Amino acid sequence: MRVLLAGASGVFGHVLTPALLEAGHEVVGITRSPDGVRAIEAMGASAVVADVMNREQLLAALEGQRFEAVISQLTALKKAPMRNKDMHVTNVLRTVGTENLMAAAKAVGATRFLTQSMIFGYGYGDLGPEPLTEDAYFGPSPRKSFAEHGEAMLRNEQIAFSEPGIDGIALRYGLFYGGPATAAYVEYLQAGKLPLVKAGTAAFVHLADAASATVAALERGRGGQAYNIVDDTPVPFATITLQIAEEFHTKKPRTVPAWMTKPMPYLNAFITGRYLVSNAKAKEELGWKPQYPSYREGVHADAQG
Ligand SMILES: NC(=O)c1ccc[n+]([C@@H]2O[C@H](COP(=O)([O-])OP(=O)(O)OC[C@H]3O[C@@H](n4cnc5c(N)ncnc54)[C@H](OP(=O)(O)O)[C@@H]3O)[C@@H](O)[C@H]2O)c1
Repeated sequence: MRVLLAGASGVFGHVLTPALLEAGHEVVGITRSPDGVRAIEAMGASAVVADVMNREQLLAALEGQRFEAVISQLTALKKAPMRNKDMHVTNVLRTVGTENLMAAAKAVGATRFLTQSMIFGYGYGDLGPEPLTEDAYFGPSPRKSFAEHGEAMLRNEQIAFSEPGIDGIALRYGLFYGGPATAAYVEYLQAGKLPLVKAGTAAFVHLADAASATVAALERGRGGQAYNIVDDTPVPFATITLQIAEEFHTKKPRTVPAWMTKPMPYLNAFITGRYLVSNAKAKEELGWKPQYPSYREGVHADAQG
């Protein structure tokens, strides 16, 4: 397929773009900068320059082009979000950005639209002892200061599903690690900026597996559906952090009590919450399974380079 990929120059884009090319698709990445163009072209894809927040500019940049699919991997999380306000720019990308990309998808004749969603749309905190399926409540959290994020994730998916003639698919990824994302953890650990908080259980996915699931969803996903994209092994944030520290021989992170993260409510919620998520639907419908069923194999593979 000829695929227009927003976010091709980002951390995940650097793993997803080669995976799409490898699967035989043609990729045109959207970026705002000459550096982004260079990064996209270095991967063997081509680039178009536009700010997705500027609809006229985006449509003008795509004038005369035809694509079969549009994929959004837009976020603005360069710095790990600590406070709720750190999510604001990403929330706007997930709403206005997705609306503009959908307008672009219509203009270029696309019939498939994939969007990056997130398991935090199920809520923040202790989400219970049973793995959540895609039928669970997804939307604004009852915790008021977190409501804006779930609202944006829900809206993002609604936009993806909204256009007759375009099969919209939402990929609810777990927390990314792997490849360039693991490298970011290593940097934080080296700088002594990633303490261990022994609480909670999180759902992770290696970027290579997030990419293979995205390719599978592009090729086989059903329109109007959301898919959880997580590995098989929920794990406390502290456990994966320690594994990365050991495998990459970084400084040993210090342990801090969970209450010490309270001044950073967003970080506190995702470190201390219980997020058990089922990947059964993605396995069954997409014929996908993670190459790295747990952080153990994934981190080990990263450390071997
Ligand atoms: N599920 C998860 O755990 C999850 C999800 C997302 C991100 N992350 C993590 O967060 C870190 C940063 O990732 P990130 O994806 O936020 O940042 P990133 O790696 O810089 O990627 C952001 C991408 O979005 C594009 N973009 C942003 N705003 C845009 C706009 N207005 N118009 C056009 N393109 C736009 C950027 O393109 P240009 O800058 O080239 O214009 C870039 O390709 C990574 O370590 C990643 O693993 C984790």
